[in-house]
Amino acid sequence: MKVLGIESTAHTLSIGITDGGKVLSNIIDRYSGGAEGLIPRKMADHHASTFSSVLSRSLASAKTKFNDIDLIAFSQGPGIGSPLSVGIAGAKYLALKYNKPLIGVNHCYAHVKISEHMCRMEKPLVLYLSGGNSQILAEDEDSYYHILGETLDVGIGNLFDSFARAIGMKEAHGAALAKLAEGGKYVPLPYSVKGMNLVFSGLQTAAEKAAKSHPHRDVAYSLMETSFAMTCEVTERALFLTRKKHLVVCGGVAQNKRLQQMLKQMCVEADVSFGVAPDELNSDNGAMIAYAGSLLYKKYGAMPVKKCVPITNYRIDRMKEVLG
Ligand code: FE2
Repeated sequence: MKVLGIESTAHTLSIGITDGGKVLSNIIDRYSGGAEGLIPRKMADHHASTFSSVLSRSLASAKTKFNDIDLIAFSQGPGIGSPLSVGIAGAKYLALKYNKPLIGVNHCYAHVKISEHMCRMEKPLVLYLSGGNSQILAEDEDSYYHILGETLDVGIGNLFDSFARAIGMKEAHGAALAKLAEGGKYVPLPYSVKGMNLVFSGLQTAAEKAAKSHPHRDVAYSLMETSFAMTCEVTERALFLTRKKHLVVCGGVAQNKRLQQMLKQMCVEADVSFGVAPDELNSDNGAMIAYAGSLLYKKYGAMPVKKCVPITNYRIDRMKEVLG
């Protein structure tokens, strides 16, 4: 089954095509925002103006004609309303024009499923870390996702982006911050874990304050080390609670090599296998939406057009309510 997946929850517009478990194409076009940060209306404008070319490039890269597509999957949330609306409008237009079925996909579920598939792990404990989300997830026998722990304020990716902007970095994102942090020395920063939940805002304030009197490199290094150590602690607690024998990390922040190293070490000590998908499939991308869409379509069938609306606060534990 060839599925076209559209991702537009935030700054990335991506359209990917999958066939079974195979990724045929995955074209990603990201709005950077620059120093002014990410303004929702501008993200939506970017997606609207690049939609047609991203679609053509994706079809060409998959060597597929639109008529050969069996299903259109779109990211339904969680996300920012304006860019989400552009992706969903595009999905609905294509479905009506070419008479194809539609399915709305929870963005977090897509990250989880593509990673499980690439790592060949079934129902592992999942650590999902991105700009807006930081969650520990476990799927039960009824395919219900339990959120065992999560951030109580900002997502870990947003913590890095906000700090990078506060210290005046032109490229204000986690990858640039990780580069700056290389070779840094540790500056003490607050560490805040509540059971299996995380709190990052106090750490952010303290890091911004420390950046006024310490080298930015040292504070960037300390911010990342502290937040990753907090994340490892809550994940280890969840592993012991669930007795899961596999751990998968997914989402944009999962690409960070230092985080991967810390998690791997923790897994060796806990006798748990560790998995992470290739970087391209951990950033926001259309292929993961297509792949997850194929799984949901098999289970729930097509989504009526009137239900194809953005759900900006769509939590993974609400999927049955939305799809059932
Ligand atoms: Fe994401």
